[in-house]
Amino acid sequence: MSNPIATLTNVSRDFQSAPGAPIQHVLKDVSLTILPGETIAVTGPSGCGKSTLLNILGTLDQPTSGTVSLFGQNPASMDESSLSRLRARHLGFIFQSHHLLPHLSAIENVLLPMLAGHDAPDLPAARARATDLLARVGLADHLSKFPAQLSGGERQRVAVVRALIRQPGLVLADEPTGALDATSAASLTDLLLELNAATGSALVLVTHDQSTAARMQRHLRLHQGSLS
Ligand SMILES: Nc1ncnc2c1ncn2[C@@H]1O[C@H](COP(=O)(O)OP(=O)(O)OP(=O)(O)O)[C@@H](O)[C@H]1O
Ligand SMILES: [Mg+2]
Repeated sequence: MSNPIATLTNVSRDFQSAPGAPIQHVLKDVSLTILPGETIAVTGPSGCGKSTLLNILGTLDQPTSGTVSLFGQNPASMDESSLSRLRARHLGFIFQSHHLLPHLSAIENVLLPMLAGHDAPDLPAARARATDLLARVGLADHLSKFPAQLSGGERQRVAVVRALIRQPGLVLADEPTGALDATSAASLTDLLLELNAATGSALVLVTHDQSTAARMQRHLRLHQGSLS
């Protein structure tokens, strides 16, 4: 068996919205191992902690207790610049709302992670790869359009390509199809699975949609702070 790319061990996350306010125990003793290339769905009711779990996996949040290991590193012992390097090198993020930058074109949005990696990027090669991936998702004629000139589904396809451009080991997708109709949602899921298989990335996908969840290799349910 290959080594895990990510491990959560007895992770808990408490929130207290103001001093003196009650403490909310959102994640309770969650343990999870993610292997290279695995596809995992996370489902559960609104407010159960799915985004919190994804944020911890993505080093955007830290657990209250428990440990995280990500690509052999311990995020709790890293400063912000090391964390951003870890994210740029190993992680791809797709959010419910696409988070594209409005003043950059489709291809410029896709190229953005290449500039954030701190290593000197080969820009002509990156541009060629971006062009190729955007063409594969049906956007060959839309490279220079700004997000406001694209449909919702087209924007999400740009966001998928942006998350995968650096071939991250782990893609974290928080309800990427939430704003799409059923047909567009199914084809975006096709695209994610196809690109994941092609790049060997693992995928953790939060969804409310059981048919999307059923297409992942593993299906985890988050309920009252615990995974099952
Ligand atoms: N920074 C924070 N401060 C205080 N409470 C928070 C914070 N972040 C999240 N919470 C609380 O933690 C709980 C879980 O939130 P989270 O966003 O993880 O839910 P979710 O499962 O992603 O829900 P949804 O399906 O609606 O997106 C919620 O009750 C939320 O109010
Ligand atoms: Mg959420």
